[in-house]
Amino acid sequence: MEWRIPLADIDFDSEEEAAVLKVIKSRWLTMGAMTQAFEEEFAAYTGAGHAIAVANGTAALHLACMVIGLKDGDEVIVPSLTFVATANAIRYTGAIPVFADIESEQDLDISVRAIEQKITERTRAIMVMHYGGYACDMPAITKLAREKGLAIIEDAAHAIGSEIDGRKMGVWGEVGCFSFFSNKNMTTGEGGMVVTNNDAMADKLRILRSHGMTTMSWDRHKGHAWSYDVVELGYNYRIDEIRAALGRVQLSKLDRNNERRRILSALYREQLQELVPTIVVPFNETRGISACHLLPILLPAGSDRLRFMEYMKSHGIQTSIHYPPIHKFQAFAEVGLGAGDLPVTENVTGRQVTLPLYPTLKEEDVTVVVQAVQGAFHQT
Ligand SMILES: Cc1ncc(COP(=O)(O)O)c(C=O)c1O
Repeated sequence: MEWRIPLADIDFDSEEEAAVLKVIKSRWLTMGAMTQAFEEEFAAYTGAGHAIAVANGTAALHLACMVIGLKDGDEVIVPSLTFVATANAIRYTGAIPVFADIESEQDLDISVRAIEQKITERTRAIMVMHYGGYACDMPAITKLAREKGLAIIEDAAHAIGSEIDGRKMGVWGEVGCFSFFSNKNMTTGEGGMVVTNNDAMADKLRILRSHGMTTMSWDRHKGHAWSYDVVELGYNYRIDEIRAALGRVQLSKLDRNNERRRILSALYREQLQELVPTIVVPFNETRGISACHLLPILLPAGSDRLRFMEYMKSHGIQTSIHYPPIHKFQAFAEVGLGAGDLPVTENVTGRQVTLPLYPTLKEEDVTVVVQAVQGAFHQT
């Protein structure tokens, strides 16, 4: 379908085209100098000691779970209001996701109080997700984790460039994970990054990313190595040079594009004000600076959400849902991971709708979307 206003759009131009062409002409496509440069630039941007580029955000999360040593039966506290990959990554290691509620209708991030209530003697880690780019309460969560001896993994897929007190999301815990999927604030199509300040974890992440091998094709190509050992049960989670090249250009545009997202989000909030309190616009107050990945709204309780989304569609406007709660999915419920006790999550997830937001969205488009939202309330 041709949308008049899509949910998300990419900001690619001749810079990305030239970067890809340069890689193709270089005739070196697998992980090499371009990936190394991307990693160095991403580490510098986030302030992390190390950045390890991987095939996608899910691979980043899986490796993060492996490198903190999760094993069968360990518990990891995680929100249910996130993309399923967040919890899947925990399950890949045999560990158990323990779902904690979100804070409120205004603050869709995991609640610090709820985390505290879910801690048991089997808890090994807290995995946070910065919903829509709006940072979780990392000062409080890091303090709690330190007191209880727990590791922190950040799913920062939405929060590339978000920060609190000048410290970027992704570098608050042991390991931070990013996705460069095509709807993210910067994209390589598929792609991801793991960041850490821990040297030993960084070494292990690099090895796990490529079959547990001690050397890579690039080392051998450069004549630095002839053979290798395999020292871990690793995976092929490598990125390639084409995507690394795209990532470098996208990273150079990130601050400008995030600023544009913030301007558009503020405009949405201003124009949607007329519909408040009929609708809720979460995150009126933010902790630090948001990357404004999503613009979520909550419809009134009892609304027909699908009818609302159909109405928006009939006006050429694409909307989405972030997210169906994980604990309600069959693959979680049938293995005993469907336990509720998440009243705020369950209240919000039936009412949430995401409106279009991307850097090339025009101010007039925001007005068109808001007018359609208003129209929907007169119709539905
Ligand atoms: C919150 C969150 N976590 C994890 C992922 C997984 O990333 P990927 O699609 O790159 O595997 C995504 C995005 O798709 C996401 O939005």
